Amino acid sequence: MNIYKQELMDHYRNPRNHGVVDRPDFMCEESNPSCGDAISFTGNIKNSQLTHVAFTGTGCVISLATASLLTQKVEKRTLEQIMSIVADDIRDLVGIELGPVRLKCALLPLEALQNGILNYLLTLSHKIKK
Ligand code: FES
Repeated sequence: MNIYKQELMDHYRNPRNHGVVDRPDFMCEESNPSCGDAISFTGNIKNSQLTHVAFTGTGCVISLATASLLTQKVEKRTLEQIMSIVADDIRDLVGIELGPVRLKCALLPLEALQNGILNYLLTLSHKIKK
């Protein structure tokens, strides 16, 4: 087993930042229609920075391990930095070759996180306009 596979299995068996943060500023669940698996992210935001993040969900090794890796990558990052993460960044994060089906699994956590932040930003701009 190569080092990337070992790291993925470690994140799958011992997920980092698993659970729900206290008093979340956003919460978002996304599911993969092809398998029905779902990942949910919650987070705290302060001064446009993600201060705490956590995830829960059911899924395959790739989706759950990527969710765990992603929480480590994005904690303490600005919302702008997080919203600019793209599929290639997730490929780098996972570190193994991903075909189209597995790529969908790996992108599920990013979709949940970015949609959660997007909803937060939309709600914020709505409040400011009032
Ligand atoms: Fe369902 Fe990977 S098989 S998310």
